[in-house]
Amino acid sequence: MLGMSKLRVAVVGAGAAGLCAARHILARPALYDPPVVYELTENVGGTWCYEERVGCYGNGHPIPSSMYKNLRTNLPKEVMMFPDFPFDEQLPSFLPHQEVQRYLERYSQSHQVTPHIQFSTVVDEVKPITLETEGAGPKTVWEVKSSDKEGSQKMERFDSVFVCSGHYSDPCLPDIPGMEHFKGTVMHSHSYRVPEPYSGQSVVVLGAGASGLDISMELAGANAQVILSHGKPPFTFPLPPGLRQAPPLTRVNEDGTFSFMDGSGTRAQVLLLCTGYNYTFPYLRGPALGLEVRRELVSPLYRFLLPPAFPSLFIIGVCKLILPFPHFHCQVQFALRVLEGAAPLPSGPQMEEEVREHMEAQRSLGVPSKHLLRLQKEQWGYCQDLARDGGFAPIPAVTRSLYEEVWRCRNVHPQDYRKANYRLVSDTQWVLKD
Ligand SMILES: Cc1cc2nc3c(=O)[nH]c(=O)nc-3n(C[C@H](O)[C@H](O)[C@H](O)COP(=O)(O)OP(=O)(O)OC[C@H]3O[C@@H](n4cnc5c(N)ncnc54)[C@H](O)[C@@H]3O)c2cc1C
Ligand SMILES: NC(=O)c1ccc[n+]([C@@H]2O[C@H](COP(=O)([O-])OP(=O)(O)OC[C@H]3O[C@@H](n4cnc5c(N)ncnc54)[C@H](OP(=O)(O)O)[C@@H]3O)[C@@H](O)[C@H]2O)c1
Repeated sequence: MLGMSKLRVAVVGAGAAGLCAARHILARPALYDPPVVYELTENVGGTWCYEERVGCYGNGHPIPSSMYKNLRTNLPKEVMMFPDFPFDEQLPSFLPHQEVQRYLERYSQSHQVTPHIQFSTVVDEVKPITLETEGAGPKTVWEVKSSDKEGSQKMERFDSVFVCSGHYSDPCLPDIPGMEHFKGTVMHSHSYRVPEPYSGQSVVVLGAGASGLDISMELAGANAQVILSHGKPPFTFPLPPGLRQAPPLTRVNEDGTFSFMDGSGTRAQVLLLCTGYNYTFPYLRGPALGLEVRRELVSPLYRFLLPPAFPSLFIIGVCKLILPFPHFHCQVQFALRVLEGAAPLPSGPQMEEEVREHMEAQRSLGVPSKHLLRLQKEQWGYCQDLARDGGFAPIPAVTRSLYEEVWRCRNVHPQDYRKANYRLVSDTQWVLKD
């Protein structure tokens, strides 16, 4: 590794990814100074810190969490956990969000991360600076500008930055022709909290990702009349009374009614957009880093992790359709091995070429740009390769096996799959509990 002095690392965000980064940095006191973790809210947990309010805080910063009141995890705790930090054994497999928040608070406290978090502090800018060193050539350091609750600004220098600010906060709002004709309520799932205000109302939910499906079932259960409009093949599982599906919404007509792709239509009081989220890193200047940050894609990122031109900046958790906590656990450990010089990287141009080739191969298979950061099945080999190259324990086979079983159950009965409870028997085996 490097020189003699310890490395200073900044971590942006104290959600699951940021806590994981800080925890692994603190575990290597001989190599790293304690990290500085910047967190714009007053709490750890990020997404999992439920906030009843929507919109902005008093200081004008948008409320980041998209959590809603009745949300339960869609992954069992046995696979969702950080591999080295189990949830409480007494808890059921599928948890209300409060339990995940408690778990993350416990993770932060147990690993002594909390004292290193600067709460109510927003990172305004992260900028690379090139320094000339004696004999060792140019060296990149990072200037991090932040402002606290009182508005006082500060700049600190670091050897590396871990970007852990999440990507489920900035709503993606589709362009729907004729939207100006709709006089009802339009909102995004980011601002959805409880179903009661929609009881007795007609609601079109657009988009059938986890949010669209979960929220439309919750609304139907609260006596709303719900149409779930989406572009996936029609669901074949039973839908609850009050919920039916329709093809994608194509336009709003002059009389305020909605038209769907098959020519059918409806009138509704509420349009609830469950259309996902944009990538945004307002504190990074993409072009200066050789990065293109679009609403649906961040590229090029070598191993979905670092810009080839700046291999001491790590963007943790940018991928979708992953098992988030174990994924962060692998990315963070690999990134630290890179910093330590123990996991050598190819040259910048080689890394860039590798990313380009991968994206081209995906595109030639018909994968649209907006899905290039989706991993799904690819995630297992990806994490295994990080573990191999970083020299740490891989995610056990039982995790994949149970994850895939739960996906299967969710697709068969999305209303009931959370009733199951599981137990891990070994690194390769799980069982259903009675
Ligand atoms: C509604 C919903 C349900 C989900 N359900 C599940 C589930 O059941 N199971 C599962 O495993 N995953 C689930 N996820 C995925 C979830 O995003 C991950 O589990 C995980 O919480 C992501 O952690 P993160 O640290 O990457 O981001 P976040 O949790 O978003 O944390 C980012 C943190 O960065 C802070 N921040 C942002 N910008 C700045 C800045 N400029 N300066 C300082 N701080 C900043 C934010 O305040 C926040 O605390 C769900 C996501 C959503 C939106
Ligand atoms: N624990 C839980 O139960 C739970 C609940 C909610 C959310 N979550 C998690 O939260 C994260 C975000 O989920 P999300 O569902 O909000 O976002 P998402 O996964 O990005 O899903 C958004 C969906 O909207 C669709 N869409 C976008 N624009 C559309 C349009 N104009 N017409 C029709 N469909 C459109 C997308 O289709 P394309 O893919 O074709 O773009 C996609 O299926 C995920 O990690 C998810 O697992 C978990």
